[in-house]
Amino acid sequence: MGKTKILVVGSMNMDLFVEGANQIPKFGESTICGRYGYATGGKGANQAIAAALQGADVTMAGRLGDDDYGRSLKQEFEKTGVHTDYIVTDKETQTGLALMLVNEDGRYVSYSCLGANGNLCAEDVAAALDAEHFDMVIMQLEMPLETVYRTYELARERDIPVFLDAGPAMKIPLKRLQGLYILSPNEAETEALTGINPDTEVKAVEAARQLYEAARPEYVILKLGSRGALLYDGKETELIPCFKVKAIDSTAAGDTFGAALAIRLCKGDEMKQAIRFAHAAAGICVSRMGAQISIPNEGEVIEFLKKAGEEIG
Ligand code: ATP
Ligand code: RIB
Repeated sequence: MGKTKILVVGSMNMDLFVEGANQIPKFGESTICGRYGYATGGKGANQAIAAALQGADVTMAGRLGDDDYGRSLKQEFEKTGVHTDYIVTDKETQTGLALMLVNEDGRYVSYSCLGANGNLCAEDVAAALDAEHFDMVIMQLEMPLETVYRTYELARERDIPVFLDAGPAMKIPLKRLQGLYILSPNEAETEALTGINPDTEVKAVEAARQLYEAARPEYVILKLGSRGALLYDGKETELIPCFKVKAIDSTAAGDTFGAALAIRLCKGDEMKQAIRFAHAAAGICVSRMGAQISIPNEGEVIEFLKKAGEEIG
């Protein structure tokens, strides 16, 4: 059997990450932080790298500016074997940039400048979908909403299942996304979409039900940070715990979780086993600083699972 073929549609950013951002300042205030650095990121790019590191054949569709940040992102793709033929270099704008303010618990707040991601259009995505067959499309919301909807429609016309990571947090109508394969928001995204903060299991279940009714996916999977993930298939819910790790920086954990989950499902794992695998991949990512540099490969995840005494499919 050949490799699973994945099309990732969406954002690519240079991340400026700042450690020790333990307080969020008010306007007019300033917070003294710790070290800072630059790392390639962006939800789409992180998913693409994570999927490639899990052994998939990955193509990225998106837009970069004609600048050094764009060139660095392309280099990372080349290193991990992600195909870049459908990445458009946009002469009009800058490469996207995200300011990631990370606190001592490894959690962050961020400011994102869309840059070239904001010009990604349906024609860019159609070019990739017309050229090749893909087993799955993975996307997020860090691009124009109309491109999200059109990507979904273009994939459906070709019977390709779509995995939507609903980040960053925003309230969007889900009607045009009805029939997704997987809808997967984190806690903040769940609250933005449903108005329910999933801080207890009861509230998480209610939010998952509402999302299921609105988008009619095959599965809703809520990412609940250190509490794990809540799976809902329209009938039953199950909270699937994650692994205990020392959290350094959760940046890209959700992207890694989603990509690893998608690849394991394409490889034939059953859902709960795939979620445990994805938790392991995301757990390793959380225990390291930065976005793409923190994403583990398949071998590292298997090793981690073996050490945890877990069966691997
Ligand atoms: P991002 O947007 O930065 O990619 P996210 O906010 O979408 O991340 P989270 O809900 O924080 O994603 O976490 C995704 C997954 O990462 C969880 O389902 C879990 O597997 C793992 N994870 C996150 N935080 C922790 C933690 N403190 N300990 C262990 N695993 C964690
Ligand atoms: O999901 C994490 C990503 O979100 C970061 O890499 C940053 O670029 C923001 O887009």
